[in-house]
Amino acid sequence: MDKKFAGIILAAGEGTRMKSDIPKVLHPICGRPMLGYVLELAKALKLSKIIVVAGNKKELLKDLLDGYKAKAVCQNRRLGTADAVKIAQPALVSFSGNILILYGDQPLLEAKTLKELIRKHLSAGACATILSARTENPCGYGRIVRDNYGRITAIIEDKDATDEQKRIKEVNTGIICFKKNELFKAMAKIRPDNAKKEYYLTDAIKIMARSGLSIESLSIVDDLEQAHGINSRQDLAQAQKIMRQRILGNLMSQGVGIIDPQATYVDYDCKIGRDTIIYPFTVIEKDVIIGKFCRLGPFCHLRPGSRIEDRAVVGNFTEVARSRIGKGTLMKHFSYIGDAAVGNNVNIGCGTVTANFDGKNKLKTVISDNAFIGSDTILRAPVKIGKKAVTGAGAVVTKDVKSGEVVAGVPARPLKR
Ligand code: UD1
Ligand code: CA
Repeated sequence: MDKKFAGIILAAGEGTRMKSDIPKVLHPICGRPMLGYVLELAKALKLSKIIVVAGNKKELLKDLLDGYKAKAVCQNRRLGTADAVKIAQPALVSFSGNILILYGDQPLLEAKTLKELIRKHLSAGACATILSARTENPCGYGRIVRDNYGRITAIIEDKDATDEQKRIKEVNTGIICFKKNELFKAMAKIRPDNAKKEYYLTDAIKIMARSGLSIESLSIVDDLEQAHGINSRQDLAQAQKIMRQRILGNLMSQGVGIIDPQATYVDYDCKIGRDTIIYPFTVIEKDVIIGKFCRLGPFCHLRPGSRIEDRAVVGNFTEVARSRIGKGTLMKHFSYIGDAAVGNNVNIGCGTVTANFDGKNKLKTVISDNAFIGSDTILRAPVKIGKKAVTGAGAVVTKDVKSGEVVAGVPARPLKR
C-alpha cells in the first residue's frame, strides 16, 4: 500500500459569523493565523503535498502558504465539502497515495492525534479512516452510523438525521483519511440530495460502505475540544485561551516560572530560559527570545524582535520593541525602549524613553555596557551612549555621549566632574 499522504485543507468558509473583512482562517491565535497552525500540522506530518481550498480572497493567503510550499485553489461558490475536495483534484492528478482532509478552522488539533489516525489507516489498509469523537452534546455534527456488527455504514449530517440517529453520540470531527483513488471514485457519485442541498464529502463513506470497502475510525475520547471549529469571535477567544494554556504549559515544563497563567500572554514560538519568572499581566509577542534568570513584569509588554538576555529585569509598566536588553541590565519601572541595543549591566532609570520615531523613520539608540541612565531621561534617536556614561535625571539627550562622560539638562550637556 502506498504510504504517501497529501493534505487537502478546506478553508473556503466565509466566516460570516466573524463579522470581519479578513478571511476567517487568517485571524490570529497567539500571534499566528489560524490556518498557520493547520499548516504546521501538515508540516509535522510530512505530507508530500498540501492543497488549500480557499474562498474568494485567495490572494490574501499567499504569503502564509508560500512559507509551507502549499498551493491554493479557489472555490468560488460554496457548494459543500465534497465540491471543495473536487476543486483540489486537478492539483493532485500526478499524486498517488492517500488524502488527509483537514479544516482550516480547526487549529487546535494535535499532531500526535493525526499521526495515530494515519498509522491506523495504513495498518488497517482501510479505504477511509475517520477521526471520530464521543460527545454528550452531538448536536450539529455528522453522526457515525454503524451496523449490527459495529461496521461503519454512513455519516449522517445533523440536519438529515432521524430522531433515532440524532441520539448517536459518536460524531465525525471532519478529519478523514482516504485512499485517493477510492475517494475520487466515490466523489463522482455524490449528489446534493439532502437538507442543505450541498455536496457532502461525508456521503463518500456511505458509497464506499455499499461497495463493501473497509471504513475504519479512530475515536478521540474525552478531547473533542481538539476538533473545535472556529466560527465566531467567541470561538476564537476560546481557542486563544486553550492555545495560550498549551504554550504556557510547555514553558513551565521547561522551567519557566509563571506566577499566574490566567493573566500571562505569550505568543507561539517564543524562547524563554529556565528560572526566568514572569509576573502577571505580561504580554510577550511572537519572535521574542528571553534568557535565563530574568524577571519580567508585572505589566510588561515585549514586542516582536526583542531579545532579553540572562538576568535582565524588565519590570512594571515597561515596553520593549525590536531591542536587545543585555545581561544583568535593570529596567525596573515605567520605560519604553524601542529600536535599541542596550549593553550589559546597564541601569535604565524609571521613566526612560527612547524617542525612536521622527514621524517617518524608526531610528536606533545604542546604550553601551555599564551606562547609567538617570530617571526620566529622553534619548532622542539616533544617539549613542558610551560605556559607563551617566545621564542626569530629566536629561534630554540629543547628541552622542562619550564613554565615562556625565551629561545633564535640556538639551543634555557634559558636566565637569
Ligand atoms: C462538517 C461535516 C460533519 C462534521 C463537521 C465537524 C460534511 C458534510 N459535514 O459539517 O460531518 O461533523 O464538519 O465540524 O462534511 N468548506 C469549504 N467549502 C464548502 C463547504 C465547507 O471549504 O463548500 C469548509 C468550511 O470552511 C469548513 C469545513 O469545510 O472549514 C467544514 O464545513 P462546514 O460547513 O462547517 O461543515 P459542517 O456542517 O460543520
Ligand atoms: Ca463546521
